[in-house]
Amino acid sequence: MKGKFITFEGGEGSGKSSALAYISNRLKEEGIPFVLTREPGGTKISEEIRDIILDKANTEMDPMTEALLYAAARRQHLVQLVYPKLNEGINVISDRFLDSSLAYQGGARGLGIQKIYDLNLYATDGFLPDLTLLFDLDPETGLKRISANENREVNRLDLEKLNFHKTVRKNFLKLAQKFPKRIKIIDASLTPEQVREEAFKAIIDVLK
Ligand code: TYD
Repeated sequence: MKGKFITFEGGEGSGKSSALAYISNRLKEEGIPFVLTREPGGTKISEEIRDIILDKANTEMDPMTEALLYAAARRQHLVQLVYPKLNEGINVISDRFLDSSLAYQGGARGLGIQKIYDLNLYATDGFLPDLTLLFDLDPETGLKRISANENREVNRLDLEKLNFHKTVRKNFLKLAQKFPKRIKIIDASLTPEQVREEAFKAIIDVLK
């Protein structure tokens, strides 16, 4: 395929979203063709699946059902949006992709990384990103950043979430060790300016 596929991964408060916005502006300035998309979502069908997965009322959802829905949304997103763009020579940047499934469903939900990896490779016909940026941050710092922004106290639910996110982080780091060529760790504890510059440099290296 002529375009490159780049994915962004990381936890809450890691600066992933603001880095995405910055990089999108810089790439426009450089005249590099790209589209920005996200998972779960990116196409009408995948956004509909997203609504089901993220609906807070769906408390009965079984973890494997969740993993299958993420994989289904991913497949549709690839076939309908990512592959056609890459074939046209347009680079695609996705806010989250399969590593989220590995870290959240495989690791934190306990379904097993290998099982979720196999499921996802089945869904993607083995297709993987050219580059994955992992915005790595201690979840405690991430949570503090978020509550500072929202001007609120850290509550009991946040603390429960904290343990979950610690497991997610540990699993993302395990993945970065397992796939050192594909996954680049961005130290998200640095200043927002440093974080987005690091990320931009890594992307330009792959696109130029
Ligand atoms: P979103 O609001 O887009 O999160 P963020 O801003 O943190 O990227 O919600 C996506 C949520 O879905 C997020 O909590 C991570 C989770 N997720 C998985 O558990 N597995 C997956 O495969 C993907 C793509 C996302």
